[in-house]
Amino acid sequence: MTEEKFLIGSATAGGQVEGNNTNSDTWAQEYMKTGGYKEPSLDAADHYHTYREDIRMMHEAGLNAYRFSFEWARIEPEKGKFDEKEMNHYLDMVDACREYDIEPVITLLHFVCPKWLITEGGWEADTTPDYFARYVEYVAEHLKGKNIRYIVTINEANMGTLIAGYLEKIMRHTDGAGLQIGMDLEKMAEQQEMTKKENLEVFGVENAAVFTSPRSAHGDEIVCTAHKKAVEVLHRILPETKVGLSLSVRDLQYTEGGKENADKDWEKDFLHYLPTIENDDFFGIQTYTRAIFSAKGEEDPAEGMPVTQMGYEYYPECVEHVIRRVHESFKGDLLITENGIATDDDTVRIRYIETALNGVMKCREEGLPIKGYLYWSFIDNWEWQSGYTMQFGLVSLDRENQIHTPKPSLAFLGSYTKSDRRK
Ligand code: BGC
Repeated sequence: MTEEKFLIGSATAGGQVEGNNTNSDTWAQEYMKTGGYKEPSLDAADHYHTYREDIRMMHEAGLNAYRFSFEWARIEPEKGKFDEKEMNHYLDMVDACREYDIEPVITLLHFVCPKWLITEGGWEADTTPDYFARYVEYVAEHLKGKNIRYIVTINEANMGTLIAGYLEKIMRHTDGAGLQIGMDLEKMAEQQEMTKKENLEVFGVENAAVFTSPRSAHGDEIVCTAHKKAVEVLHRILPETKVGLSLSVRDLQYTEGGKENADKDWEKDFLHYLPTIENDDFFGIQTYTRAIFSAKGEEDPAEGMPVTQMGYEYYPECVEHVIRRVHESFKGDLLITENGIATDDDTVRIRYIETALNGVMKCREEGLPIKGYLYWSFIDNWEWQSGYTMQFGLVSLDRENQIHTPKPSLAFLGSYTKSDRRK
C-alpha cells in the first residue's frame, strides 16, 4: 500500500448525482403521490456519464480523495441477479480515480436500495442483513487487487432512528392532540391510509421500510447486523482495506440544566453504536452543525444566528468538537466523511471550510487519528426531499445543458493539499 497521505477531497452519493437509478426504491418513491419528494431526480448531475471529467476536475483543483457510492440497485437490480456491466462501471470509476491520483473512498450503501429489497420487507426485515452481505461479497470479490484504503459500509446508519426521534418530538410538542403546530390528526390518518395503499401498489407491501423511513428498535438492530456482516465479509476478502460506517452526529451543547438532555441524544446518536463498531478500523464522522439543549430539550437557533439554506445554524466549529468527542470513546481512525454547507454565497462556503479545516488540523497536530476531510458535496445536487433547491456544491450544475462549473471553493479546498502549512 502506498504511503498514507492526509485525504482532502469531496463526497457525493449515486442517488443524488448519477441520475436514472431506475431500479431503486428512491426512484419509485420519487414518482409516488405519497413519496414525499419535492421533485424527481431525473438526470441529476449526469455523473453516471460525466465521472471521468468530474474526477479530472477534482485533480486539477488539487483534491486527492473522492468519496462516492456504489449503487446496489444497479449492481443487483433483481434479487440474486448481479449485473456485471454495472459493476464494471464502478470499477472504472475507481480506475479513473487512480489515473488522476485521487484516493477512492467507497460507500456501499448511501440510503438508496433496490426496489425489490423493500418488497422483501426492507430495513425492518430479518432477511435484509444477509441480502446486504451477499451484495457486499459480490462487490468485494471485484475489488480484489484494487488496493482500496477505505470502505464505508453504510452511510449514516442512524438516519432512520434520527427521523423516528424527530417525528416523536413533533408529536410530543403537540401534547398528542396535534393542536399546537396546527396538525390535523384526521388528515394525518387519511394520509397514512393513502400511503399504505400506494405502497401496496408500488412495492407490494403496506409499509415501505426504506432506509430513511422512521426506524423501530428492531430495525436499528437489523442495520447494525447488516453492518457487522459486511465488515466480516470485507475483512475476509479485502484484508488490506479499512472498513467502517458513518453516522450523522451533531455537536451537542447545552445551557444550564440541559446536560442530561444533550447526553441522552449523544447516547442515542453515537454511544449506542459503540458495540456495533468496535471491530471497525475507522469511523466516518458526518457533521454539519451544533444543537443546543436546555432543561426543556433542544432549542431552536437563537434569533439572529446565521443559518444555512437547510435552516440549521452556520457552525463549522462542530467538526473539531465532534472529532474530540468521538475520540473519547472510539480509538480507531477517524475520517470526516461529510461536512459542508448549503449556501448560494461561495465566499461563505470558503469561510466555512476554512474554519472546519482549522479545527481538523488542530486535532491532527495534537496527534488525534484524523485521516482526512471530505467536503459535502462535490457538486450541487439532488438533496433528497428538498429536490434541487440546496447548493452544497464546490461545483455548480447547469441542469439544462449539463455543464459543471467549478466555484472558487473547489480550488480553495484543493489548496490544502498543496501548501506546506496545511500538509
Ligand atoms: C447525507 C447526504 C445529504 C447531506 C446534506 C447527509 O445527511 O448523507 O446524502 O445530502 O447530509 O443534507
